[in-house]
Amino acid sequence: MTNLIEITDLSVEFRGPKNGFFRKKSSPVHAVDNVSLNIVKGEALGLVGESGSGKTTLGRALLRLVEPTTGQVHMNSTDGKRNITSLDAKQLRKAWQNMQMVFQDPQSSLNPRMTVMDTIAESLLVNGIAKNIRDAKTRVVEVAESCGLSSDQLNRYPHAFSGGQRQRISIARALVTKPEFIICDEPVSALDVSIQAQILNLLCKLQEEMDLTLLFISHDLIVVAYICDRIAVMYLGNIIEIAPTKTLFNNPMHPYTEALISAIPSNNPDDITGETLLASDAPGSAGERKGCLFSPRCRYADGKKCSTIKPALTDTGDGRMVACHFAEKLSLTGFGNH
Ligand SMILES: Nc1ncnc2c1ncn2[C@@H]1O[C@H](COP(=O)(O)OP(=O)(O)OP(=O)(O)O)[C@@H](O)[C@H]1O
Ligand code: SF4
Ligand SMILES: [Mg+2]
Repeated sequence: MTNLIEITDLSVEFRGPKNGFFRKKSSPVHAVDNVSLNIVKGEALGLVGESGSGKTTLGRALLRLVEPTTGQVHMNSTDGKRNITSLDAKQLRKAWQNMQMVFQDPQSSLNPRMTVMDTIAESLLVNGIAKNIRDAKTRVVEVAESCGLSSDQLNRYPHAFSGGQRQRISIARALVTKPEFIICDEPVSALDVSIQAQILNLLCKLQEEMDLTLLFISHDLIVVAYICDRIAVMYLGNIIEIAPTKTLFNNPMHPYTEALISAIPSNNPDDITGETLLASDAPGSAGERKGCLFSPRCRYADGKKCSTIKPALTDTGDGRMVACHFAEKLSLTGFGNH
């Protein structure tokens, strides 16, 4: 197994605006907090966690759409290893041909004044891969068709398409330069359930055909399970568990993962829900506390150790890593048992 992406001690800190009469600085937000993570060539890795846990910021930091505060990102492409974090602007633009992002809302990520042809062709033209739109046409038609769009739709504008079709356009635009790595940030959250399945199936098909490596960001565990080989769980900027999808679902080892799984709706109204497994609704802030960041909400927290010592993300030997002092001792409930 080769790692396509190697993330080492990556942090992103947002400085808040200065507040009050004395223009005192508000405390920084640790959106991504010292994350180390590898993404294996050809895999689909899911990234889950509640709103504000830092999923989008981590995804954007990998492409340097937001600048990391510290840490490094390496990419082992077929044409060599690159330290993404040390590239200058010109080198970074070139690296983007090989690493792309698909966003949640196709409506706002597409320029309403550009035809679909121009939209998909743009990175071929900007990067000098095609000299003009005529040059780009063959590749644009090819990628559009592989995304389920017909060539006679290419001269239309985005408003003439449904949400699902617009997401197909976004995916085609991301794939036109034949990247090895794609980050999909909530790519189906804005779509109807029936259309969600079509887009997920499309991503699975493209991943296989193009030998893509995917980072798939979502707050929906079921959607992630459908498409991903492994799942990483994020909490307040930290990865707190990472495991193969089946292992994570059947046998979670972190109390927060257990709570997320218990919150998956089932057909049985007597089933417990995530709320009952969390001691509090508010996730709190990564800047406020020592110890385990999950401790104020954890029903297994041991007063002393959990509130004073931060648990490290530790390899448990079965392709899984967990950050909980009591991971080996707890017997948590997986999907299907709740
Ligand atoms: N540009 C920014 N400036 C200041 N704070 C930011 C900025 N972008 C994100 N944040 C903060 O960083 C944290 C992580 O945000 P992020 O959008 O990465 O979370 P997320 O897991 O993607 O959430 P969601 O599921 O709602 O998309 C949040 O506290 C958010 O308020
Ligand atoms: S370290 Fe303690 S507070 Fe944190 S998840 Fe484990 S048991 Fe809960
Ligand atoms: Mg997000």
